[in-house]
Amino acid sequence: MDSHTMHTHTCGELRREHIGQQVTLTGWVWHRRDHGGLIFVDLRDRDGVTQVSFDPEHSGGEAFHAAETIRSEWPIKVTGVVRERPEGMENSKLATGEIEVLIDAIEVLNSSKTPPFQIEDHVDTSEDVRLRYRYLDLRRPRMTANLKLRSDFTFAIREALHNRDFLEVETPALFKSTPEGARDFLVPSRTQPGHFYALPQSPQLLKQLLMVGGVERYYQVAKCFRDEDLRADRQPEFTQVDIEMSFVEQDDVMGALEDVLSDAFAKMGVEMPTPLRRLDYWDAMDTYGSDKPDTRFGMELHDVTGIFQASKFKLFASAAATEGQYVKAINAKGAGAWPRAQIDKLANVAAEFGAKGLAWIAFREDGSVNSPIVKFFSDEEMMALREEMGVELGDLVMFAVADRKGADEILGGMRLHMANALDVPREGHDFLWVVNFPLFHWDDEAKRYEAEHQPFTLPTELDVEKIKADPLAIGSATYDFVMDGCEAGGGGMRIHNSQMQLDMLELMGFSVERAREQFGFLMDALEYGAPPMGGFALGLDRVCMLLAGEDSIRDVMAFPKTSSGSDLMSDAPSEVSGKQLKEVSLRLL
Ligand code: AMO
Repeated sequence: MDSHTMHTHTCGELRREHIGQQVTLTGWVWHRRDHGGLIFVDLRDRDGVTQVSFDPEHSGGEAFHAAETIRSEWPIKVTGVVRERPEGMENSKLATGEIEVLIDAIEVLNSSKTPPFQIEDHVDTSEDVRLRYRYLDLRRPRMTANLKLRSDFTFAIREALHNRDFLEVETPALFKSTPEGARDFLVPSRTQPGHFYALPQSPQLLKQLLMVGGVERYYQVAKCFRDEDLRADRQPEFTQVDIEMSFVEQDDVMGALEDVLSDAFAKMGVEMPTPLRRLDYWDAMDTYGSDKPDTRFGMELHDVTGIFQASKFKLFASAAATEGQYVKAINAKGAGAWPRAQIDKLANVAAEFGAKGLAWIAFREDGSVNSPIVKFFSDEEMMALREEMGVELGDLVMFAVADRKGADEILGGMRLHMANALDVPREGHDFLWVVNFPLFHWDDEAKRYEAEHQPFTLPTELDVEKIKADPLAIGSATYDFVMDGCEAGGGGMRIHNSQMQLDMLELMGFSVERAREQFGFLMDALEYGAPPMGGFALGLDRVCMLLAGEDSIRDVMAFPKTSSGSDLMSDAPSEVSGKQLKEVSLRLL
């Protein structure tokens, strides 16, 4: 029984032991059935569903007559006595399925328009309609359960951090632009015309300043804002469980994180065995074609460059003869039986991952080989290939020819595509670290080195001259937390030396002036005894999506935005008045 509400019990609470008790329930009319003079209503609240019944012969029939008028989604309050359901009428799918409540009195609390879709777990309506009426969508038991799961997990991880002496510190949402690879959302200042705040892409710099400030162990359930293209696992505003520690080395941070995460997951009934497996970035790329590999199934990448050094197949032979070019392959078991037309379509899929074409060999069930390219292969090449790829009847071997990362990414994409197409089972959860990301990649558009993680990451090589000599060869003290093939979190050790931070920014193409202008406050702070530090941010939405078994983070957010960044309920973003614009000294183009 909970106090301070209109009811004595929730709709998920009543059991056999309550039989004979008088109770009051509140909730929404879910289903209403007229049965030979009796009316049955499934009454639903956040906690569950209880069947309540109305009998015209009972208590003068007053409640019965009121029940004749009520409709789906009307909120009502009912009082009655719990009784056993007649034999054969129990509902084992319902926690309250052994009882029902025979109603003496009903109070209709409000009426409702007919909802634009049925409040059922599997709705047959577009997501746009669901988002337009999100408040109704949230009444669906599945969405209610997702919100509860998110609340429980957030509480569990807060508790795990609190119990380990982490301080929860709030950092501002109105701050300075601190680039982390995406565009900023800008907020114009009224009092300082022409000046802008930026909403933080993450609290990265602020948490580093907290370490300089002596906080030592920080966390925050932090809203982050990134103006980037949206996908199923990306929203313009999302939540991180942001963490930072000082006076630590990388293994200390990773150990503490494993401890916190496994504790929080355990509270959700999910076992995360520690220590977690660590995959080096390049091992992950070369084996799974991804820096966030799903290792619950094989279909691993193989480097077959060596097999084709003297091949008559020019494409492979010339790649083999070129420094930095590779021929790699995967074997999709079962797809070798696909019809030719279906296999041909895979080239379009491969193109999405950067391939110029797709070479393939289908090993048919009847022992024949179907392929546009095998006619160029020698017997030795074919034998070596069969052996390397473990070929059996029914296999489809696909090739990528490109530089190392390019070939990895094409086949990494194909690997996931084929796993989905072939319904390869992926059961349970898969946790691992991917470590030692490269410090930089080359941004061909901007013609400069760009930080692979972020510009404040500690390189694994500390001699700046050596870094400058070959920036792309340098690794970084970084770790991504990968769950079920999804980048669920990421972090690293930070530069805590001001000069080194400046050197790195210069390497990324910042002039000293621009570096000072954007990051002067950080570099100043680092000069006042900044401790060694490192940290991490968990993508809360993504982890909750995976725990809930959903395909999109939108399903674990109360009010998400569409892929074009709109809120369909309120119609945000929307125009503002000329007066508002003038107040912040803005004129539209
Ligand atoms: P990073 O940018 O990797 O690191 O972000 C950390 C985690 O946040 C999640 N995430 C997102 N989730 C939903 N929508 C988005 N648009 C989105 N972008 C990121 C991912 C990701 O792994 N400051 C660093 C962390 C650190 O180094 O401590 C940072 O923000 O799950």
